[in-house]
Amino acid sequence: MENNKRPESMARINTKALADKFIDEQVKLLQKQVGKKKVLLALSGGVDSSVVAALLIKAIGKQLVCVHVNHGLLRKGEPEQVVEVFRNQMKANLVYVDATDRFLNKLAGVADPEQKRKIIGAEFIRVFEEEARKQDGIEFLAQGTIYPDIIESKGVKAHHNVGGLPADLQFELVEPLRFLYKDEVRMVGSALGLPDGMVYRQPFPGPGLGVRCLGAITRDRLEAVRESDAILREEFAKNGLEGKVWQYFTAVPDFKSVGVKDGARTFAYPVIIRAVNTVDAMTATVEEIPYELLKHITQRITTEVKGVNRVLYDLTPKPSGTIEWE
Ligand code: XMP
Repeated sequence: MENNKRPESMARINTKALADKFIDEQVKLLQKQVGKKKVLLALSGGVDSSVVAALLIKAIGKQLVCVHVNHGLLRKGEPEQVVEVFRNQMKANLVYVDATDRFLNKLAGVADPEQKRKIIGAEFIRVFEEEARKQDGIEFLAQGTIYPDIIESKGVKAHHNVGGLPADLQFELVEPLRFLYKDEVRMVGSALGLPDGMVYRQPFPGPGLGVRCLGAITRDRLEAVRESDAILREEFAKNGLEGKVWQYFTAVPDFKSVGVKDGARTFAYPVIIRAVNTVDAMTATVEEIPYELLKHITQRITTEVKGVNRVLYDLTPKPSGTIEWE
């Protein structure tokens, strides 16, 4: 059985030189492990899978097959960024699957949060499995497992690993980041030339905007979540809050309220802003966003996002609220 304990002799990777050294060592190890064979990777565009991809591209180039499943619940610009960085810039062998309709059809009318998670997780595996079957000669499956995933078996990531492929698709695992902490993964990602926006991005749940479009997902509210989230992120970046606040996003509930626009009555959705700080996601405090900025974001969301007439700011710490709304 593989040793799951980080070697005591392993130095903390906290400089570019140490990251470069780790990369050199891993490239050699990966080349030795994989030889001339092919490796499959589910590339979400999150920090861990992106760093694994970049490392493997450096080690084995086009022997790596990356599969990016767009489940239609990603943030604005994310699928495009994955294609731009990995296919266009890094010249990776990338299969891009737009499975939006498939996921949204499966999710239609489903309001229970855990049921939504199950459907998204199961459908993800199904799409990934179908893509895996189209590939010839895959012998390895790469995963962005990192050290906290191993030591905290109940870690937040446990929800969305890509386990669960059928028995005939049980490939040998390639997990080059398994002894790294998150800050080390980021350091290695930067040293590999990944953009800051990818390496330093905030945590994003596997079910994505699916658990922020509250209740049964509808396309109009999903668009409202995506557009309001993009405005929030843009304003946080402009105002120096990106990288300072641990996690920030918007959610759209499944009820409407009365409002007024251009002298006429509206009946539209509210957008909820959430911005929290935490160390381990078990408890969290609310970020004190400057009031002027909150007002500006509210103004932008209510004028730019279709079907929205109010903005609310969630002041609830965890506990009693969770970070996500579902
Ligand atoms: P809660 O809402 O439980 O969230 O306070 C704690 C952290 O976990 C993330 N989260 C998830 N991540 N799949 C994930 O990969 C999920 O189903 C999921 N649910 C919550 C959440 O974004 C926060 O960072």
